[in-house]
Amino acid sequence: MTSGRDHGENMRILSGIQPSGRPHIGNYFGAIRQYIQLQTDNQAFYFVASYHALTAIQDAALLREYTLGVALDFLALGLDPNQATLFAQQDVPEVTELAWILSCVTPMGMLERAVSYKDKVAQGFSPNHGLFAYPVLQAADILIYLAELVPVGQDQKQHIEMTRDIAAKFNQQFGEVFVIPKPYILDSTAVVPGIDGRKMSKSYGNEIGIFEEGKALKKKVMSIVTDSTPVEAPKDPDESMPFLLLKLLASPEEIVEWEGRYRAGGMGYGDVKKRLLELIEDHFAPVRERRRELEGDPGYVMDVLTEGGRRARTVAQGVMERVREVTGLPTTYPPA
Ligand code: ADP
Ligand code: TRP
Repeated sequence: MTSGRDHGENMRILSGIQPSGRPHIGNYFGAIRQYIQLQTDNQAFYFVASYHALTAIQDAALLREYTLGVALDFLALGLDPNQATLFAQQDVPEVTELAWILSCVTPMGMLERAVSYKDKVAQGFSPNHGLFAYPVLQAADILIYLAELVPVGQDQKQHIEMTRDIAAKFNQQFGEVFVIPKPYILDSTAVVPGIDGRKMSKSYGNEIGIFEEGKALKKKVMSIVTDSTPVEAPKDPDESMPFLLLKLLASPEEIVEWEGRYRAGGMGYGDVKKRLLELIEDHFAPVRERRRELEGDPGYVMDVLTEGGRRARTVAQGVMERVREVTGLPTTYPPA
C-alpha cells in the first residue's frame, strides 16, 4: 500500500468518481480528501467517470444530473479549479479510442479475475460488456494523462494493478509510451465502515451521505451497529464502528480521551454516537452551505467543466498521437 511518503511534489495525479449517486463519507475520507490535499504542488486531474456510470445508468436526464452533481460535490468539498483540472470523462472521447487499443493487449483472464466485476455479478446484475471491460477504460483514463499517482480507496487497488499490468504489456509490445502509475491509498482511511459494519458503499445502502442533514442524518448515526456489551463493562474501541468513524473526524486528543472512556467502562454507545453526529455536522455543514451556493450558479460549474475538458483533452490528444504512431495507426489524412 502506498503511504504519504511516496508523494513528492509536481507529480501528475489523476482520479475519478462515477456519477452514480450522492457521495458518502467513505468516498470523502477514502478518496476525495486526498484529491484536495494533492491538488496543491502537483498537476492534478480529477474527473467525473460518466462513461463508467453508463454501464449502470441508462437514462439521459439522470446521467446528466448526476454528472453535474459530482462536479458540484467536488467543488463544494474544496476542489479548486485554478489548481486542479476538473472535467467530465465524455469531454475527452479519445479515452474510448485508447480503451480499444488497450483491450487488444489485455488478457481475457485478467478481466475475468476482476473482483468488482465478480461482486456485481454475484449481487445479481446481469452484466453488459461495458461492465466487463470497465477496468480497461479505467486504465485508459489513467494512462492517457501519463498519471503517476492515483488516489483511491482500497476497493480500487486491483483496478490500479490491472492498469499497471496493461501499461507494462503495451510498453513491452510497442515501446515506452506509458508511465506505470501507483495507487495512493492511505492506511487510515482505506476502508471506511458503513452503518452496518461492512465497507461503506452506495451499493450496500449503508452509507452516511456527506450532504445528509437533520433528522435523516441523526437517524443514520444512531442506527450504527454496536454490540450488546453492557454500559458498565470495558469495551475495545477498535472493534466499535462508532469509534472507528469518530476517529476520522476528532482531534488526536479527543481520540485518546474516547479510547480511555471505552476501556474504563461506564460509557454507553449512545454517548459516542451523539458526539459523532456533532463532529459530522461541524465538519460538513460549511460544505453543504457551499454546495447550495454553487447550485444557484449552474453557469459556473459548466464553465469549470468546459475549461477543464479543454485542458485535459489537449494532454490526451498529445499522448494519443504517440499511441497511434507506435501501434501503426497514424492518421492517414492531414488535419483540415
Ligand atoms: P461506492 O462503493 O459507494 O459506489 P465508489 O465506487 O463511487 O463508491 O468510490 C469512489 C471512490 O471512493 C473510490 O476511490 C473508492 O475507492 C472510494 N471509496 C468508496 N467507498 C469507500 C470506503 N468505504 N472507504 C474508503 N474509500 C472508499
Ligand atoms: N472505478 C472507479 C470507482 O468506481 C472510478 C474510476 C474510473 C477511476 N476511472 C478511474 C478511479 C481512474 C481512478 C482512476 O471508484
